Amino acid sequence: MTEAVHTRRVFSGIKPSGGLTLGNYLGAIKRFVALPEQGFETIYCVVDMHAITVWQDPSELKHATRELTAAYIASGLDPDQSILFNQSQVSAHAELGWIFNCVTRVGWMNRMTQFKDKAGKNAEKVSLGLYAYPSLMAADILAYHATHVPVGEDQKQHVELTRDIAAKFNNDFKVPDFFPQPEPMIEGPAKRVMSLRDGTKKMSKSGESDMERVNMTDSAERILKKFKKAKTDPEPLPDNLDALKDRPEARNLVDIYAALSDVSSEAVIAEYAGAQWGRFKPALADLAVSKLVPISTRMAALMDDPAELDRILAKGADKAAAIAEPILAKTYDIVGFVRSHQ
Ligand code: AMP
Ligand code: TRP
Repeated sequence: MTEAVHTRRVFSGIKPSGGLTLGNYLGAIKRFVALPEQGFETIYCVVDMHAITVWQDPSELKHATRELTAAYIASGLDPDQSILFNQSQVSAHAELGWIFNCVTRVGWMNRMTQFKDKAGKNAEKVSLGLYAYPSLMAADILAYHATHVPVGEDQKQHVELTRDIAAKFNNDFKVPDFFPQPEPMIEGPAKRVMSLRDGTKKMSKSGESDMERVNMTDSAERILKKFKKAKTDPEPLPDNLDALKDRPEARNLVDIYAALSDVSSEAVIAEYAGAQWGRFKPALADLAVSKLVPISTRMAALMDDPAELDRILAKGADKAAAIAEPILAKTYDIVGFVRSHQ
């Protein structure tokens, strides 16, 4: 149904909160950059309004917004081909987010596992925004009638909630097909890049030790050191993936190698069957350096001209608003808000 009524439009976002990791690169940015060639219209957002659901120092937020913009471009995103902007410059996100707060049921939000993980025992003290965040994420996607949402595995539940919100809105207001049912795109070997110190934990910006993650801005020396010190087990690599079932650290390194080199994890294991870590780890570290260092070098060059990055975001915001505003206006009308200026 969605396919017939709505164009193939991709929307995705990343929070400008602290540094970017290899997980963000492989699970998100690298995949985003490949989508325009596959016939999708693409809209990518620096979701600054999501970032402030937890405290952000204002000047660091500005820095992180520009750095993420630079990371998208340095990774190969062409701002003339994809729309690239920061969320707070397009007011439709907040406005549709409010409407969705009134569609979404509290019981649905209570099932969001990421909120439970993030809030932990502190649930009484976290911001209301952190709790409502998935409803704003639904607005991000649906303000563009986006049909496809490339994300890492951790965001699957939020995209499913977006589908529920779209269906409830369409049903409550008797507008079948107004909002599409967006598909999560969770593909490739890097759906969930794990910590280098614990193969059962997601690699994240906020893990306590910097040795757990590779940052997109790490120097070659630091990348080499982190892979050298990465936790593994004493066994050599087997000749099939099934044999890695109970070896999460080994599996993670094989998947990272596969995602960096654009081959399947099966192909990596076939090539390295029987290899000891003394051979595999340096090969992986060299590969990571060869992919990441040119990107961080280009990011640093882009960061030397913040005014140009701001201009790119402004242009992107104008293009984004041109799509979102008519959809928001129609939504307001459907809801029953009087539109005096129409
Ligand atoms: P965030 O940094 O939480 O805003 O995440 C931005 C995007 O990166 C989302 O699509 C996440 O699913 C993805 N992502 C973050 N960490 C990882 C990871 N360790 N493995 C795979 N994808 C990730
Ligand atoms: N919630 C996502 C994350 O934490 C970021 C995000 C916000 C997003 N809005 C989105 C992702 C819309 C995809 C589509 O990673």
